Amino acid sequence: MKKTLLSGMRPTGPMHLGHLLGALANWTQLQEKYDCYYMVADWHALMSEYADPSAMPDCIHEMVADWIASGVDPKKAVIFRQSDVKEHLELYMILSLIVPLPWLERCPTYKEQLREVKGRDLTTYGFLGYPVLQAADIILYKAAAVPIGIDQVPHLELTREIVRRFNGMYKEIFPEPEALLTKVPKLLGADRRKMSKSYKNFIALGETPDVIGKKVLSMITDPERIKLSDKGHPDICNVFSYYKVFKPDMEGEVKDWCENAKLGCIDCKKRLSEALAEYLKPFCKKRQDLLKDRGYIDKILKQGAEKASSVTSKTIGEVYKAMGIR
Ligand code: TRP
Repeated sequence: MKKTLLSGMRPTGPMHLGHLLGALANWTQLQEKYDCYYMVADWHALMSEYADPSAMPDCIHEMVADWIASGVDPKKAVIFRQSDVKEHLELYMILSLIVPLPWLERCPTYKEQLREVKGRDLTTYGFLGYPVLQAADIILYKAAAVPIGIDQVPHLELTREIVRRFNGMYKEIFPEPEALLTKVPKLLGADRRKMSKSYKNFIALGETPDVIGKKVLSMITDPERIKLSDKGHPDICNVFSYYKVFKPDMEGEVKDWCENAKLGCIDCKKRLSEALAEYLKPFCKKRQDLLKDRGYIDKILKQGAEKASSVTSKTIGEVYKAMGIR
């Protein structure tokens, strides 16, 4: 029997190259080895986007299209929307009974977000409970493995602590999940910061060749290479790091252009844009086909929610029984 795995993403903006190479490539591989549940974490998105959630339905639709276009297969993995499966909120509430406030207040991601996120008031009751809902997501399926990026590790640690507390207080019904750390390839945004929705420095998966061209042109290269005749240092150039990932067969050639001042940065960028557009072409085609048929994605989510619910309704029954409240 395969082990169960669960992961989720918040629908808060377009999926970009960072997601494709990090999470999605990994999700696609993992679906062969595990019973996978891939969740649209719309309640989690609302915890920060509550003031204006009107873009969320379209965002969810596009996110699921991006997942499927990149290789996540609804025949192999259960794709569902968190708010369609009521037991997530139910278990979230139950866990909130037993989670001490200081566990949440000292969570490093919580403190960081309060400090860093601008333009949203995150000092709410709901946002403090973010990791409790995440724990409910994971343990409802008794997931053994949770693929996540390094930034999510504190949430998995908290999940494990919550599991130990629940099991100790009532009855051993939940396994402690393990993190499967996703290696994120070194791909920085146009401004050389981490590629991220909040920095607006990303190349989205559905980007047209035109926009790819503009974004690549804005990328920072070797700041010491001012004229074409200056010799460049590819190892500090962001454009070069993209070649390495998306067009590895050109790596040697590009290095030579740069180090020996044979091609200017603008031309080098133009060629990268072409290569990138070519790389994304099959993906974009599939994505567009999927987006044409709104009913298809709705159907995938409906079927996913049914499968997910068949598991979660059983778990919640066990929870009530373990606690002795029914
Ligand atoms: N917090 C995760 C993120 O922002 C999303 C998420 C919600 C999640 N529930 C989850 C990830 C359960 C793994 C497991 O990336």
